[in-house]
Amino acid sequence: MSTDNTATAAIPLRPLMVRIVRREAAATEIVRLELRHIDNIDLPAFEAGAHVDVEVAPGLVRQYSLCNDPAERHRYCLGILRDPASRGGSQTVHDRFEDGQLITIGWPRNHFPLHNDGAPAVLVAGGIGITPLLAMAHALQARSTPFSLHYCVRSRDRAAFFGDIVASAFGPALQLHLDDGPSEQRLSLDAVFADRHAHVYCCGPEGFIGHVTVGATSRGWPAGQLHVEHFKVDVSQDGNAFLVEARRSGVTVSVPSGVTVAKALMDAGVPVALSCEQGVCGSCLTPVLDGIPEHRDQYQTDEEKLANSHMTPCCSRSCSQVLVLDI
Ligand code: FES
Repeated sequence: MSTDNTATAAIPLRPLMVRIVRREAAATEIVRLELRHIDNIDLPAFEAGAHVDVEVAPGLVRQYSLCNDPAERHRYCLGILRDPASRGGSQTVHDRFEDGQLITIGWPRNHFPLHNDGAPAVLVAGGIGITPLLAMAHALQARSTPFSLHYCVRSRDRAAFFGDIVASAFGPALQLHLDDGPSEQRLSLDAVFADRHAHVYCCGPEGFIGHVTVGATSRGWPAGQLHVEHFKVDVSQDGNAFLVEARRSGVTVSVPSGVTVAKALMDAGVPVALSCEQGVCGSCLTPVLDGIPEHRDQYQTDEEKLANSHMTPCCSRSCSQVLVLDI
């Protein structure tokens, strides 16, 4: 996961101070960072698929997936794409992060966990979406769970970690698909969805995820066996104005079109635990006491959204005139 947006945020929960012990180019416009604890002690354990919040600059937090072997405790590795549309996040990492620099990160959190039932897996990466899937590949290899790794990139020079994958124990599982290569090596969704027992994990740009998701739906693929990680989402705040009552805080605010619930609440002095501010991380998930949210997040499942018991104030709005939140 790699997100870029403009709003300020803070590292949630317990911060970790780490040192960038190695910065290197992983591919065209992709930098690899190796982080170690400043006291050279073990870092908190993480699961495959997890990400960390990185304080890119004071008050500017971005989320990046951990891509090294989850069995490692001495380091965290990140792969970060310079996003041409970046408004501060990845550009700052590429331009300012250096070897030896101390940075603050959050503890690992995982919204993209692997199944644990022994069924085979198919990992499908689009570009920098390879990062969480790399950690998954390590974990699956350690568990001796059969899997394949489809890695789609525009061109060979953009295939970050390609050499590492080829040299790894799971190198034979890799299938590289180049946009500028011959048609016969392109990603085949028939191959991805060939084994009805498999769990499919997909991470990449929205269009790529949409392509894989549509392919799953058209093949009648069970929803519970497709797992996706969105790493860049633009969430519109267009819509009708409504009121939000923050019941625990004893505050009611008006939320006009173009303004998020979170901003309206924070302007009124009600703290909201924000991180991605794009509806993908779940940090701001808030219980709904009354009213009907208009869910615009990618974090909750369809079933959870139908239940209307929680909403994400960073991006979701309200269908009802008044929304009452437990905050
Ligand atoms: Fe990430 Fe709201 S801050 S979902």
